[in-house]
Amino acid sequence: MSGDREAYIPALRYAWLTPIYDTVVRWTTRESTFKRALVAQADVQPQHRLLDVGCGTATLTIAIKVDCPDADVAGLDGDPGILATAGEKAARAGVSIALEQGYSFALPYGDNSFDRVVSSLFFHHLTTENKRRTLAEIMRVLKPGGEVHIADWGKPQNFVMRSVFFLVQLLDGFETTADNVQGRLPALIGEAGFQGINKTAEWAAPLGTIALLTAIKSA
Ligand SMILES: C[S@@+](CC[C@H](N)C(=O)[O-])C[C@H]1O[C@@H](n2cnc3c(N)ncnc32)[C@H](O)[C@@H]1O
Repeated sequence: MSGDREAYIPALRYAWLTPIYDTVVRWTTRESTFKRALVAQADVQPQHRLLDVGCGTATLTIAIKVDCPDADVAGLDGDPGILATAGEKAARAGVSIALEQGYSFALPYGDNSFDRVVSSLFFHHLTTENKRRTLAEIMRVLKPGGEVHIADWGKPQNFVMRSVFFLVQLLDGFETTADNVQGRLPALIGEAGFQGINKTAEWAAPLGTIALLTAIKSA
């Protein structure tokens, strides 16, 4: 597989940093604000089937299940270690979510099987090629009329946001973060065939600008 070289980059690039991931994200990304907005925007209904791609420790996945307990909620991540943490968090929260190890550019799900696909702080871990492959896979697994909701680092709002984002790039890599910082994610979503692409919100966070995007697979 051509993407195997970088099948996945761990949450904080190095596996030994994963245990502090939740703490770092809580303090550097305005996590509770943007994840609450993403959950509200996704507007998940009881009959929905939802996938969280690159779910990590499943903070968002669990929040969605708590918000809509009757929805069928799944999380996928390439890293089996972080999925173990996600499973423990879900058990502590008393929610049942389906956690699966796999890669975003080869999703282990059938065509037209989800009403919603969400992801947060995930796309900046992918090369441009793997962003394209992942968006094609999201398009494939979404039902017609289904929606994708993405929160990730976006084009910095100002010089200060651009400057602090260098710290993210130093850790996560300049190659995979370039599309984000240049504001190319909406165009890549469009290239995959999605309609109604919208940046619905953005926040100035301690390490850069977080953007919330939405798009639809036309019915
Ligand atoms: C920065 S973390 C974000 C985790 C979580 N979504 C959140 O909001 O906290 C990025 C996650 O994407 C996963 N990941 C990176 N590349 C992946 C790929 N190609 N397929 C699946 N998961 C991947 C990593 O293992 C990591 O858990």
